[in-house]
Amino acid sequence: MLRKAIKQFQLGVKNPIQGARILASEAKMRAGIRTLRSVEMAVTWICNLDCDFCYAEDLMKAQKKPPHMPVEEVRRIMQEAHDLGMIHVNITGGEPMVRKDIYDVVDAVPKDVVVSLVTNSTLLTEEKVDKLKDAGLSTIQMSYGSYYHDSFKRDLARYCVSKGISVTLSVVNIASERANIEAAFAMAEEDDFSVLFNYPMIYKNVGLDSEFYWKMRYHPRCREDNMFWSGKDRCPAGTHKVYVTNDGDVMTCDRIHAIYGNVNDEPLADIHKRMYDKFIQHKSFCLLETCDKQWLKNNEKAGRNYSTDLLGTRSDPFNVFEGTPLMEGSVEGSTMAKEIHAARLASAKPDLGEPQTSGNGAANGNGAANGSAPNGKGSTNGSEAATPDAQASDTPSPSETPSA
Ligand SMILES: C[S@@+](CC[C@H](N)C(=O)[O-])C[C@H]1O[C@@H](n2cnc3c(N)ncnc32)[C@H](O)[C@@H]1O
Ligand code: SF4
Repeated sequence: MLRKAIKQFQLGVKNPIQGARILASEAKMRAGIRTLRSVEMAVTWICNLDCDFCYAEDLMKAQKKPPHMPVEEVRRIMQEAHDLGMIHVNITGGEPMVRKDIYDVVDAVPKDVVVSLVTNSTLLTEEKVDKLKDAGLSTIQMSYGSYYHDSFKRDLARYCVSKGISVTLSVVNIASERANIEAAFAMAEEDDFSVLFNYPMIYKNVGLDSEFYWKMRYHPRCREDNMFWSGKDRCPAGTHKVYVTNDGDVMTCDRIHAIYGNVNDEPLADIHKRMYDKFIQHKSFCLLETCDKQWLKNNEKAGRNYSTDLLGTRSDPFNVFEGTPLMEGSVEGSTMAKEIHAARLASAKPDLGEPQTSGNGAANGNGAANGSAPNGKGSTNGSEAATPDAQASDTPSPSETPSA
């Protein structure tokens, strides 16, 4: 564990002021003092891909505000989060790199905060990496796996490392991705990357690959948020970590779409206090746990005995809080999102598919495993991706706006 903690610290922290802030935050969290440590921040609802499994699909399609959050609004929210103790922000979307002003967005984060950005890599170039670095980016999370084989570029990832930006391969921990995740770990060892384990949102019963998850989670190159922000084996969602959407809605987690307030209506401090006071009482390994089997395995492995009360009903795959006490205090979201949930559930989409082989991906320079994404999805939309710059705009063209 210590080896892992040291490794993660080395990979993530880029200057002594960030290091000092993180250590102070750790002490505060351990002392039980309320503090907000990490913010997941969606800064656009535009995406140039249409991944079948995307957790943000409902939010993107039911967007309530203009698709790119203005930089000044990002700055204000970041300052409010900073005042609450924030030591890390992950910039997400949508696809953050569709914004031409993404460098201003990164620059709007206080410099003693570790900034990561998650991308499908389609629009990344060396020049853009340089500009992200200048703006203050610490880590780039390049999504990796079946949906990203066409876009992931290993050479570019290596370039990031050479420029002092840490690279994390962001993978989804489900059985059909196992070979890709193994390839990601091999690459991480060779090229000094890390691997971020995304706990999967239940969708069509494709849950966590428990066996592999528990085998790999103590690997020094494995990053995982519930080992970090709230102490070991304690989910940070709603207490030490929140998700702010491009619409300003505040949620516990990017994969659970219950809304507890909006930063355009009241200070983040008030929303966070409400959430913290509520969620600190609800201890869990991961609030995304949705089935008894997964819950049992995680408790057994972690040596915990968290309550079954929080196991989701699965009535809404975009919001596992439905039917649990965690819905109390949430506000009604967009009804359009609910309609999208229902339509998505009703649509006869094929499964995520059989395990993908890693092939020669880790060695071929672009890291892509053999084969295309399951269902033929996850490839770029039409010809646009061939000319990525054509997509980067401040005012989205109809082709960039996710279709309803
Ligand atoms: C929603 S994407 C947004 C950033 C960017 N467009 C991208 O794909 O990298 C952020 C990360 O969440 C992961 N993700 C998407 N849907 C997920 C799901 N249902 N369960 C777990 N992770 C998911 C993606 O693989 C990606 O690494
Ligand atoms: S690239 Fe895929 S996972 Fe990322 S936001 Fe777009 S559709 Fe979702």
